[in-house]
Amino acid sequence: MVYSEKVLDHFANPRNVGEIEDADGVGEVGNSKCGDIMKMYIKVDDNKISDVKFKTFGCGAAIATSSMATEMIKGKSVDDALQLTNKAVMEALDGLPPVKVHCSVLAEEAIKAAVSDYYEKRGIDKDIITK
Ligand code: FES
Repeated sequence: MVYSEKVLDHFANPRNVGEIEDADGVGEVGNSKCGDIMKMYIKVDDNKISDVKFKTFGCGAAIATSSMATEMIKGKSVDDALQLTNKAVMEALDGLPPVKVHCSVLAEEAIKAAVSDYYEKRGIDKDIITK
């Protein structure tokens, strides 16, 4: 299996690892097949993702995609964060081996879960489509 330089870099030096204690939204998702779990914390100010952190108990590709995904949504509007697809994250990482595509889906879902928790806490009724 061949990983791109970017995947290896984000795996070895993941960005935004940790948790946010007073997070505005927290999402946790898992993949029942591999058993990997990803938890995403967001802080929202003025409808923008002002901070985001993650914890991933999972494979290297899951760590790399969550790291890249957090970088891609930081500073963006909540709506923009919701538009982030696993495909865009994979492209930003210069690709993933086909058997690892589901790991990037986890990253997209974790963001959506965190945003949907944020909406719920605010009493905003919004349907978020997850895969
Ligand atoms: Fe399950 Fe990567 S093998 S998230």
